[in-house]
Formats: sequence, structure tokens, C-alpha cells
Amino acid sequence: MCPATPEQDEPRHGAAEQRDHRDLQQRGPFARLLAQEPVQVAELDPRQVAAGAGLFDDEAGAVAHAVESRRQQYTAGRVLARQAWAQLGVPALPLLSDEQRVPRWPPSVVGCISHTHGWCAAAVAPAAQVTGIGIDVEAATPLDVELWERICRPEERALLAAYPECAAGLLAKAVFSAKESIYKALYPRVRVFLDFQAMHIALAPQAAAGISRWQATLRAPWGPFAAGQSFEPGWLGIDAEWVVTGVVLPVAPLPVPSRRE
Ligand SMILES: CC(C)(COP(=O)(O)OP(=O)(O)OC[C@H]1O[C@@H](n2cnc3c(N)ncnc32)[C@H](O)[C@@H]1OP(=O)(O)O)[C@@H](O)C(=O)NCCC(=O)NCCS
Repeated sequence: MCPATPEQDEPRHGAAEQRDHRDLQQRGPFARLLAQEPVQVAELDPRQVAAGAGLFDDEAGAVAHAVESRRQQYTAGRVLARQAWAQLGVPALPLLSDEQRVPRWPPSVVGCISHTHGWCAAAVAPAAQVTGIGIDVEAATPLDVELWERICRPEERALLAAYPECAAGLLAKAVFSAKESIYKALYPRVRVFLDFQAMHIALAPQAAAGISRWQATLRAPWGPFAAGQSFEPGWLGIDAEWVVTGVVLPVAPLPVPSRRE
């Protein structure tokens, strides 16, 4: 068995928390992950969706020449986004993307889509409450060791070295996923590419199992944000199938520079 932390087991929970945990097990990984956030989530295996079914004509046209798996994932993302924003009272509308692949959400909605082979999710919130949402799903397999140096900063690799090998690979995947999430939450505002080395992800010590929090801190300026700017809370969930991350940035107060910097 792979220990969850370098030094200790998972914390014990009270009876009420255990009940909540069982209830949440009935839901999908993103519903569990973002249970405390003011978002609506819809998620499923995109292979359950017929490619093109339920798309508006312009959406169908956007992926008309794509391979079947891409059309299926694109379809699932659009269907789920409309399901999620229907919970906010927003009617069904086309969700087209701009030339940088960023979806043009309805004006009253902030949202994010993530998909991979076997899972797809959309998370949305009212634009009056939330300024950015980033979600990401990855298979719960170790990050390819050859990618560690490109994705993880030296201090992240030093932290990973304290974990057993089996947990370290998954946590490297979690760092990758968290960086994708924070990038997707902010890119629509910033519109500048950010290298993986420019963002530091601080994982919680118990991150290798269950749901935990992370904090992202810029190590270089990014658009309007100075180096040292932190964003939190990020959420990380790891189960047998998926590594999922998410971050929901409120409209106010704006994130402030971390005291740790
Ligand atoms: C943008 C990016 C993060 C998306 O990666 P991906 O592997 O396609 O991720 P997912 O499947 O989880 O998400 C894809 C969805 O995200 C949305 N999306 C794509 N680009 C986006 C962007 N720049 N900003 C916000 N959302 C974006 C789209 O809805 C897309 O789905 P769709 O094309 O079906 O509409 C990735 O392509 C990328 O460019 N990464 C490099 C930059 C980076 O991550 N830096 C990290 C610095 S800390």
C-alpha cells in the first residue's frame, strides 16, 4: 500500500464528517471536490455522449473535421456546460470559443470545462460572484518522470522527494493539474502565456489521498499580477481513477500577496 503522507496517516474524522463523506461518494469527483464552492457542476464519461448530439449548428461546425474522440469530448463539454448553467436560470445558448480556444460564456456566467479520455466536467458560477474558475481532470497515473523538470519547480521536486515513489508520481501529476487549473481560471483575463516554472504550487502534506487544498504563487510577473501574488484555495482530489483540481476565484476581495513571500 502507498502511504498518503511522508510521515503520518490521514487525519481521523468524526461521525458527522464520515456521514458527509459517504453522501459525497455518491457524486462525481468534481462535485465532491468543489462541494464548498459557490459553483454548479455537471460531469460524466464523454463516451456516454453521441458526438454532435445536442450541439448548436455553429458548435457542430467548430468540430466538424475533428476526430471522433475530440467531437465527443467537445459535445460532452457543451452539453454539461448548459446543464450546469441551467441551474443558474440561464437558458440554452451556443458556447463557442475564441481564436485562443477560450469559451465565450454567456455574460452572466463564469465557467470552465475540462475533459480527458473517460471523464468530462463543466463548472459554472454567476459572474457577479466569481471572477474565474479553473478545473482540470487527469488520469490517476504518475506523471511521466521525463516531464517533472519541465512541469515542477525545484522546490516542488524537493517536496516530492520526501514521498514514497508511488505517491510522488501522483503528486507530480497533481502539481501539473493544479497549474493547468489556475492557468485556465486566469488566462481569460490575463491573455498572456505562462510557463509552468513561473507558478509554484504548495500542496497540503496529506495531498496524496482524498481531498486537500493547495495554494498557487507566482514566481514571475504575469499580466497585471506581480511575482509573489498568491491564489487560494485550490482544491485537489485523488481517487483510484482521477486526479482532479479546481480553483474558484471570488470577485471580491481580490487575492492579496502572500505573507509567506
Ligand atoms: C489551455 C490548456 C491549459 C488546456 O489544456 P487541455 O489539456 O486542453 O485541458 P482540458 O481538456 O482540461 O481543457 C480544455 C478546455 O479548456 C478550455 N480552454 C482551452 N484553452 C483555454 C484557455 N487558454 N483558458 C481557459 N480555458 C481554456 C476549453 O473549454 C477547452 O475545451 P474545448 O476546447 O472543448 O472547449 C493547455 O492547452 C495549455 O495551453 N497549457 C499550457 C499553459 C499552461 O498550462 N501553463 C501553466 C502555467 S502555471
